[in-house]
Amino acid sequence: MDDDLLKLLDIYPRREKRYLIPALQTVQDKLGYISKNSVTAISKYLDIPPSAVYSVASFYNQFWFQPRGKNHIRVCNGTSCHIRKNAMLIDFLEKNYNLSPSSVTKDTKFSLELVPCLGGCAHGPVVSINNEYFAEVDVDFLKKKLTEID
Ligand code: FES
Repeated sequence: MDDDLLKLLDIYPRREKRYLIPALQTVQDKLGYISKNSVTAISKYLDIPPSAVYSVASFYNQFWFQPRGKNHIRVCNGTSCHIRKNAMLIDFLEKNYNLSPSSVTKDTKFSLELVPCLGGCAHGPVVSINNEYFAEVDVDFLKKKLTEID
């Protein structure tokens, strides 16, 4: 097992299946995604078949199986933001950056994630870019922000 992965997992007791989600979160926080090696390491460490590790991880949107872009965009897809037209932002990203949900641009500059709620429901649509939060975002604002980064 990869020593770095072992160090990460070492905070959890071995063969305790209930630590699967925390272990996945720990690995993703450190690596930015869940690699094939990570699935194998978690499988061995917690004594869970790799298919079960993958199955659980793929159930949750929070886990990525490829590295995210250098700039990670999260668009809230909760009810309130949906009513406040978040679809315009998603369409903009698709048309102008060829970025669909849970994807990364070819140049790896941007990645997009749709999330259930970013905690600012009364001020939607809410977007975060590299963990900086923006409320009442429209296409012009998003375009400006991404141009500044690009
Ligand atoms: S629904 Fe978008 S911030 Fe809560």
